[in-house]
Amino acid sequence: MSLIFESMKKHRGKPIVQITDPEIEKYALEMTTSESEHLRQLVKSSEEELDYVDMLCGNLVGQLLKMLIKISGARRVLEIGTFTGYSALMMAGALPEKGEIITIEMNLLYQELCEKHFAKYDLEQKIQLIKGNAREELPMLSGNFDLIFLDADKIGYPVYYEESLKKLAPGGLLVVDNVLWDGSVLQPQDQKAEALHEFNKRVTEDERVENVLLPVRDGVTVIRKK
Ligand SMILES: C[S@@+](CC[C@H](N)C(=O)[O-])C[C@H]1O[C@@H](n2cnc3c(N)ncnc32)[C@H](O)[C@@H]1O
Repeated sequence: MSLIFESMKKHRGKPIVQITDPEIEKYALEMTTSESEHLRQLVKSSEEELDYVDMLCGNLVGQLLKMLIKISGARRVLEIGTFTGYSALMMAGALPEKGEIITIEMNLLYQELCEKHFAKYDLEQKIQLIKGNAREELPMLSGNFDLIFLDADKIGYPVYYEESLKKLAPGGLLVVDNVLWDGSVLQPQDQKAEALHEFNKRVTEDERVENVLLPVRDGVTVIRKK
């Protein structure tokens, strides 16, 4: 069993409700391009330094991000929510020579850990970390992005969504993680599940975009700005 799979047990303080049958999830992971040795090392050191690593998006979502960057030819990428740097490094590996990633993280411990990982593994220096609250930092960013990965606090998704649409180039992609929130969006019982359900409805009804919600891991929505 992989480190990420195993660590899912320490999940949001309660047992995970697996969206996909665990055996299918395991098979899908086995039949997907493996993460690089650097990323395996990052997962290992994150696991050693923290009690939980379930916030990190994992190889299925990571490879999906890579694939989207390569297919779309994205060069300028924004990430909202860095954690220990897994998805930023995964995406950096898919960018062309002059590509860049700006990633925003507000937590001081995670800033320290991801900086350490970027110094070690971002050999082409494609990643720029912004230390701060995305709610304040996003409006200050200049220029357009080809792809944005939204993976910060779930209650804030509507705010980040509107800001992201302003920053996306026409035809640009917004990839949003955890949109199924362990399946709890079906019958929301708490504020986060309710917020995510409302967010999903809002995106689907929004004429400015087209979207597809993929039941991959905890749910990933790919949104294309028209
Ligand atoms: C799910 S984790 C990100 C995981 C990362 N994308 C990966 O796959 O490796 C969410 C991160 O967003 C950060 N975060 C939450 N709200 C934020 C905000 N308003 N501004 C900046 N970072 C925020 C958290 O501290 C946490 O590290």
